[in-house]
Amino acid sequence: MKTTQLHTYKYNYKLREHQKDMLNILKNKINKNFNGTILDIGCAQGVFLKHFKKYFKKSKLEGIDTSSELINRCKKLKILDSKFYSKDFLNLKKKYEIVIAAGVLGYYDDFKKPLKKMISLTKKRGTLIVFSHLNSFNIDTIVRFRNNTNCNKWERGLNSYSIITIKKFLKKMKVKFYFKQFNIPIRLKPKKNPIISYTIDTLKKKKIILSGSNLRLEYFYLIIKK
Ligand SMILES: C[S@@+](CC[C@H](N)C(=O)[O-])C[C@H]1O[C@@H](n2cnc3c(N)ncnc32)[C@H](O)[C@@H]1O
Repeated sequence: MKTTQLHTYKYNYKLREHQKDMLNILKNKINKNFNGTILDIGCAQGVFLKHFKKYFKKSKLEGIDTSSELINRCKKLKILDSKFYSKDFLNLKKKYEIVIAAGVLGYYDDFKKPLKKMISLTKKRGTLIVFSHLNSFNIDTIVRFRNNTNCNKWERGLNSYSIITIKKFLKKMKVKFYFKQFNIPIRLKPKKNPIISYTIDTLKKKKIILSGSNLRLEYFYLIIKK
């Protein structure tokens, strides 16, 4: 899905907190000598795959993103055993031992088609990890926002589905799955670009993630074992 809200990925090559957590989940699940292929859907500038390869040295990497500018940045990293494609993941045909998709599901007004596709891209006995803005309350939300600081168009990317809605769908798909909540360990200050998330502390010292879109963002990893 095309978006113009990609500035932070163009100029930031640091691993983000949710990506550090994602890497740790994979380190706990996958043998260090893993020599299969991981697909990163919505790989942005390739920073996650770069760090994945540092730990899983024998792995092969594939990254896909609809932004050709970001894919060119991935290619410039010249990571060994890596391939990057500038296209929509819905058009992919191959299957992979590991598939990850962080921040992609929220672009879709109906999560079923993209989630089904992510599952179908994962090999039997493979692992799929979807990181997304989801709702612990049983409400699904479709959002259009206009970030007037850099674009005058209505855009997508902040939809959130209830965990219960997703559970119902996955039970029908007959796959094993569980959810793990993401708790951000650091404070984030509001930035000049209001679409970038920031945090506030609750009285119980938990952090809540907000954005200038006026939304509270609860994030979860959905881990699916085929
Ligand atoms: C919110 S960013 C997240 C980037 C990165 N995965 C992360 O966790 O920081 C979502 C990325 O998915 C890409 N994207 C959105 N829809 C896509 C699709 N259908 N196929 C491939 N990439 C897509 C966007 O271009 C963007 O780079």
